[in-house]
Amino acid sequence: MLQLAAGMKTLGTETAFEVLARANQLAAEGRDIINLGIGQPDFKTPDHIVEAAVKALRDGHHGYTPAAGIPPLREAVAAYLGERYDVEIDPDHVLIEPGGKVTMWFAMLTFGEPGAEILYPNPGFPIYESAIRFTSATPVPIPLREENGFAFDAEEVLAKITPRTRLLIVNSPANPTGGVVPREQFDRLAAGLADHPHVAVMSDEIYSRMLYDDREHVSMLSYPELRDRLILLDGWSKTYAMTGWRLGFAVWPESLVDGATRLAVNSHSCVNAAAQFAGLAALQGPQDAVDAMNAAFAERRQVIVSALNQLPGFRCVEPGGAFYAFPNITGTGLDAKALQTKLLEEAGVAVVAGTSFGAEGEGYLRFSYANSVEAIEEAARRVGHWLTENSG
Ligand SMILES: Cc1ncc(COP(=O)(O)O)c(C=O)c1O
Repeated sequence: MLQLAAGMKTLGTETAFEVLARANQLAAEGRDIINLGIGQPDFKTPDHIVEAAVKALRDGHHGYTPAAGIPPLREAVAAYLGERYDVEIDPDHVLIEPGGKVTMWFAMLTFGEPGAEILYPNPGFPIYESAIRFTSATPVPIPLREENGFAFDAEEVLAKITPRTRLLIVNSPANPTGGVVPREQFDRLAAGLADHPHVAVMSDEIYSRMLYDDREHVSMLSYPELRDRLILLDGWSKTYAMTGWRLGFAVWPESLVDGATRLAVNSHSCVNAAAQFAGLAALQGPQDAVDAMNAAFAERRQVIVSALNQLPGFRCVEPGGAFYAFPNITGTGLDAKALQTKLLEEAGVAVVAGTSFGAEGEGYLRFSYANSVEAIEEAARRVGHWLTENSG
């Protein structure tokens, strides 16, 4: 018998990838499947970004780059964040990573070990809990509630801090709920953290450019008192429709940036050189494609929320950001996981059960509206039909 490391038994997964695989399999068998399961923009990467990568390859950028990323890209990220949030960012604190996910993994490796506690949003991106468990740290859920628009309650978060707490994870706009945390909650959290200088924060802001109805994005970078213990996670994947390029960025505090760079050297060495040139073009080039994608998401959001609220047994609060709707389905009397399977196999609609995002997701389904208005309307029609046929 092979002896595996203990952490291997605790690794979770992202159900969205499993749903995608099954949806593709059904489609290959000739079934007509509408995919509202996977969390990625349905748009192509804008042309000028693709061209920058092609040019980089033609210009001979075929070798390793510095582990932390090419200097112009680190400088561009620092300038971009500085301008967006009116803060000073040292390019030496910026790391370019193969996706936002890597920052998460490195943060967990930096702080997680037996006896350590890490606070994370629940329902939340499933890899938080998986990575925490892998390190044998204790995952401490922060419940996010529908009645609060799925925003955390700062007092509740602060009350969960113990002397063993090492890291707090926050995510706004959020996956899977689309929840946006109001500034007032961030202010109270930042003020309260002054009493807990032993707690670092990882702020996952990968959906920072996707907000609706004039909502503002509050970046934790804008709290100077937290900067010496803040890890910012963001990247290109969602904003520029670049999920497959595997490109993300992070800002690490002075005391942690060397450790994070060593983790990079020890794991992936550096990000694909051409992708880094693409990232540079994305930040420095025209932003109209981003605006156009966000306008499309805003329209689809209206369509999906109104359609979901008309389904029997469904109730959906308006998501403030990202491209997910997270309806409460308890009125159907059906279990979320069972509904996920039935909707895919019988109605041809791929969605993800709320429980895939943690125990607090019981009674919810995640619909990604990164699909056309027509597809969303047809999906809602199919789900409605299935519910009517199978009710009672
Ligand atoms: C909240 C959140 N953080 C991070 C990521 C990972 O992004 P990337 O594809 O850049 O690794 C995702 C992707 O779905 C996400 O939803």
